[in-house]
Amino acid sequence: MTGNDSAPLAARPENLPRHVAVIMDGNGRWAEGRGQPRRAGHIAGSETFRAIATHAKHRGLEALTVYAFSTENWRRPAAEVRGILALLRKYLREAIDSMAREGIRLRFLGDLDAMPPALRRLTEETDSISRQVEGMTVSVAFNYGGRDEILRAARSLTEQCQTGALTPADIDEARFSDALDTAGLPPLDLLIRPGGERRLSGFLLWQAAYAELYFTDTLWPDFTPADFDAALAAYASRQRRYGGLGGPG
Ligand code: FPP
Repeated sequence: MTGNDSAPLAARPENLPRHVAVIMDGNGRWAEGRGQPRRAGHIAGSETFRAIATHAKHRGLEALTVYAFSTENWRRPAAEVRGILALLRKYLREAIDSMAREGIRLRFLGDLDAMPPALRRLTEETDSISRQVEGMTVSVAFNYGGRDEILRAARSLTEQCQTGALTPADIDEARFSDALDTAGLPPLDLLIRPGGERRLSGFLLWQAAYAELYFTDTLWPDFTPADFDAALAAYASRQRRYGGLGGPG
């Protein structure tokens, strides 16, 4: 932790979000702008991820969720896909040693069936460590698409109706939320997208229904803890009404 990490935040603590999500966008452009291969951008992006996860933990968040690989990202050149998978593997190997010490639990969102076996084994190892760790939950969305997640939940609930475990009338918002990959996480409060685009790109479609959205042109590898604090401060200054006229209720 650097001295800067513990600097007081302008945001009032009661307005600190419990759960923040980040679309880590702009790695490729960051590298291209430096005349470097895209892989260099993903390497820098994974370092940013590490720094922001540690910072979020010091800030007292309960959950941080990042988009690492979408269901569409398989269409990228094979070498780039291999590079991202290698970074994820490296991160998981290091996380296995440091999670308990840092008080960070790791979790995966997405359809993990397509994950290469070596990576899958690492996720199982991090899952079993996470069960013994108290602390902030960092969720990594891999082979994730929000529509795909909703379809998988719908299929699972339909199957439970077919076996008689549920009736259609049992399916309310709470039950549906519990069938999603994010089951058990706090409601999503804030979604940050660096990299200049202003869209969700299928990330957390159900969960983002009432989240505050924060966009910045800063490319992900350049995104600093101070940028994260700026997003927290913007969140703290907004009034959330959930469709009503007053505060959350
Ligand atoms: C989006 O930038 C980023 C990705 C598709 C990959 C994100 C992966 C990492 C940060 C590394 C591995 C993850 C972890 C959790 C260690 P882009 O390539 O779409 O950038 P562009 O829009 O500039 O092309």
